Amino acid sequence: MAELEIRNLHVRAGEKEILRGVELSVGRGEIHALMGPNGSGKSTLANAVMGHPMLEVTEGQVYFGGQDITESEPDERARMGLFMAFQYPVAVPGVTVTKYLRTVLNAHREARGEQPIPLREFRQSVEAAMKLTNVPREFSSRYLNEGFSGGEKKRMEILQLALQRPELAILDETDSGLDIDALRVVANGVNAVAGPEMGVLIITHYQRILHLVQPSHVHVMYQGRIVKEGGPELVDELEAKGYGWITEGLDQAA
Ligand SMILES: Nc1ncnc2c1ncn2[C@@H]1O[C@H](COP(=O)(O)OP(=O)(O)OP(=O)(O)O)[C@@H](O)[C@H]1O
Ligand SMILES: [Mg+2]
Repeated sequence: MAELEIRNLHVRAGEKEILRGVELSVGRGEIHALMGPNGSGKSTLANAVMGHPMLEVTEGQVYFGGQDITESEPDERARMGLFMAFQYPVAVPGVTVTKYLRTVLNAHREARGEQPIPLREFRQSVEAAMKLTNVPREFSSRYLNEGFSGGEKKRMEILQLALQRPELAILDETDSGLDIDALRVVANGVNAVAGPEMGVLIITHYQRILHLVQPSHVHVMYQGRIVKEGGPELVDELEAKGYGWITEGLDQAA
């Protein structure tokens, strides 16, 4: 059974219908890429799956691990093992990376009725996560997102991913203006933590990252629907030909 299953999802923001019948499934431990032109609804889909309060589901369902989560609260979804990387992380002056990670981790544990993580165990987990994702040690004592470069924010995101080990991670890389090194951080991090236990849905315009991460499935969104699906070869095809050959003739009647 698919870990994440989106069926005929219609979503609106205010008066505007943005998603118009999305069908998309991500199986357990699979890496999927979601691509498509600007404004096609990719970020909206990610936000709808996470339960963003500004979005209204008017039709269709979202299932996670076989459970209908269409109406679930965002924190409930997070507790079930859904993770989304923050697109625009806020700076928190005076809170170090380590402190922040511990707070997040403990919030999750508390929600599951578990005790806070013992300090020693936490230190070991952070160290292991840093090693795994190649994040330098000094990083942990810096203040959260204060003066972080785009690439450093990505490191933070990946570090959190490695610590939290969600069942499904949604990474929206749009507009992030990453240089090739930052792309590599994301790619290496995803490759390091993805596996049979963790599925990934990566939203990106960059074919480059998909050469490093290698999704098994590629979905193309256009005007709020998935209009094309394929394997990794689709990435190269899009790189060579753009989106026109897929979207031609699909334009929504005014
Ligand atoms: N809260 C909102 N209110 C009104 N319109 C919205 C809202 N959120 C998104 N939209 C509109 O929905 C459409 C899809 O936006 P979305 O951000 O999902 O696109 P995207 O595929 O992620 O684009 P990009 O590749 O540029 O990141 C856009 O036209 C956007 O302006
Ligand atoms: Mg977007």
